[in-house]
Amino acid sequence: MHAQNGHTSNGIGQKLEGFFDNRQLPMYKDKPYSYAASRRRAPLYKQWRVIVGAVLGILALFYLFGPSASRKPRSTGKSRGGAGLSWLRGPDAAAVDWNERRERVKEAFMLSWDGYEQYAWGYDVYYPLAKSGDQMAEKGMGWIIVDALDTLMIMNLTSRLSHAREWISTSLDYNQDQEVNTFETTIRMLGGLLSAHYLSTTFPQMAPIADDDHGAAGEDLYIEKAADLADRLLGAFNSESGVPYASVNLKTSDGVPSHADGGASSTAEAASVQLEMKYLANLTGESNYWDKAEKVIQVIDNNGMEDGLLPIFIYASAGNFRGSNIRLGSRGDSYYEYLIKQYLQTSEQEPIYLDMWNQALAGVRKHLIVYSKDSNFTVLGERPNGLSKALSPKMDHLVCFMPGTIALGATGGRSVEEAKKSGKWGEKQESEMQLAAELTKTCWGMYKKMATGLAAEITFFEINDPPRMESDGIRKSVEITDEKDAAWKQDYTVKPMDSHNLQRPETVESLFYMWRITGDVKYREWGWEMFKSFVKYTAADDGAGYTSLADANEIPPVMKDNMESFWLAETLKYFYLLFSPNDLLPLDSIVINTEAHFFPRFELTKTLKTGWERKPRDSDGKIIVEKPKDSPKHERAGASVSVTAAEPSETVRTVKVEETKKDDT
Ligand SMILES: *[C@@H]1O[C@H](CO)[C@@H](O)[C@H](O)[C@H]1NC(C)=O
Ligand SMILES: *[C@@H]1O[C@H](CO)[C@@H](O)[C@H](O)[C@H]1NC(C)=O
Ligand SMILES: *[C@@H]1O[C@H](CO)[C@@H](O)[C@H](O)[C@H]1NC(C)=O
Repeated sequence: MHAQNGHTSNGIGQKLEGFFDNRQLPMYKDKPYSYAASRRRAPLYKQWRVIVGAVLGILALFYLFGPSASRKPRSTGKSRGGAGLSWLRGPDAAAVDWNERRERVKEAFMLSWDGYEQYAWGYDVYYPLAKSGDQMAEKGMGWIIVDALDTLMIMNLTSRLSHAREWISTSLDYNQDQEVNTFETTIRMLGGLLSAHYLSTTFPQMAPIADDDHGAAGEDLYIEKAADLADRLLGAFNSESGVPYASVNLKTSDGVPSHADGGASSTAEAASVQLEMKYLANLTGESNYWDKAEKVIQVIDNNGMEDGLLPIFIYASAGNFRGSNIRLGSRGDSYYEYLIKQYLQTSEQEPIYLDMWNQALAGVRKHLIVYSKDSNFTVLGERPNGLSKALSPKMDHLVCFMPGTIALGATGGRSVEEAKKSGKWGEKQESEMQLAAELTKTCWGMYKKMATGLAAEITFFEINDPPRMESDGIRKSVEITDEKDAAWKQDYTVKPMDSHNLQRPETVESLFYMWRITGDVKYREWGWEMFKSFVKYTAADDGAGYTSLADANEIPPVMKDNMESFWLAETLKYFYLLFSPNDLLPLDSIVINTEAHFFPRFELTKTLKTGWERKPRDSDGKIIVEKPKDSPKHERAGASVSVTAAEPSETVRTVKVEETKKDDT
């Protein structure tokens, strides 16, 4: 997951902010929650799953357990602390056995899962050092269990999956008077359930369980929980503009504005719920999920931002931005990610999303890409005060999703080799792959810079004054070497308060995409080095699992008592995929959401489609306002459209003028 703010080292408190603060909130409405009677009448997903399940099930058997996967060694059993870790110290064998390495990842997963199961089962938060847990809602949200379902499946951990399913079936109840973060709940819980539904129906041989077979009692468990949850989340979208509120009450389905940031939602949060809602719409045939999510992007795009780069806060009331802070780190990141992924999700049939992605990527290259001073590293910086003001050479670790996403955009998920054969290849794709490779290397450097080999939450870079941008000539970085005092490290700066490591996935995510797309084995090797550092420096005592670090630049590292759910859902999953055969979930047949949950690509239909067009804009991306013939009122709209930090009243006026226009015609 990407969008949460990572700016203080007190990650967990901050993460939970959105979950616990509701108790001070007054209830504005006494609207009883009534849920989707209509959904039940047409379970289209059942018909679709039967056909596709049958066809893909056969394919899956071949892909997963065919000849290429047959050398999978048996697990050596649960590794508890040091006992089973001799591989960590020994020299790497000359002939690398990647299946063997991915077994090590599976063992790390089992250690974490079993620790959680033993000490905090059913809790949303796990403290591996204290060996205890906490809830985010009175009866729990399934935060860790639901997030880890699809990892359990691809790792074929059947008995653990059975336990998780049983908990979901008997203990998970979203009908709770609890305010939750709209985005986090969508990407982790809704995404986790949908992915579990997709894998269990499409690849029945992954961790096979009889209870979810076709016709069995538990057949629809995941999709039913998903639809129930989504119906509750939809209330967040009932704002004036259609942009979702930051939070929503699960029982009443009432949206709740953010308690900070002037009530504005994070842009990335509002714009990273679309893959989930669209897949659910496809499964259920209910266009409501799709339409609410789609509308958000239209409202955002109608702001006509310069070069497709958006400030990180947006008001749900009027759909206008707050402030002019532009970055691809926290609160900005997955807006960009979901542009290209929405294009891919609907089988490259909606050029509007490709257009938006291309515009934004060009904007990134024009305004945010800068080279480091001495070693020419490619840095994706920030514009905290807008595009006309100074660039800040700061990278959240969160930004490291971007190289993999750029590569995904360049080939559509195919390997470079295949993409070249398909004829969709040119200078643009070539230069995007180069950029992706350089940015991946910069992110890898964030790991190599640190004493533990684990990246800091935030890294700053030394740059020239004035900054050297891409337009001054593309540069190639120096080699990243191992010596302690290597000169390249001087371009990287980590401030003491930023030196924590929260077990984040973004760099290994990019390594996974880069490996699949380029076939360059160095990405696997980098991943293996990173994985070893995690095992070596983040293990809790007594086999309780792995935990976050308060300082990743000290040895022994200072530990922090929290295992993020994305450690199981994303970080270990991407390591596992990186070391797996490439035919496990081919990248050109799926999209992976921002919490590493899998959805299939599908075709558009008459009712489920984008259904809107971008307003015409000039070469800077600003909307061209046609002056209507005789209404002076309309001219004002033009003035306010391009204002970045418009006051609410101004944009409200814009919106109203738009409506008037429609009524007039
Ligand atoms: C997956 O696990 C089941 C037992 O739960 C086993 O029968 C099956 O062979 C496993 N598949 C693979 C490919 O290891
Ligand atoms: C950085 O790039 C510039 C321009 O290509 C080049 O002249 C310079 O030698 C490079 N620096 C290093 C240390 O490679
Ligand atoms: C969902 O996607 C499948 C696969 O592309 C398609 O056949 C089906 O018609 C879609 N369902 C709906 C309701 O659009």
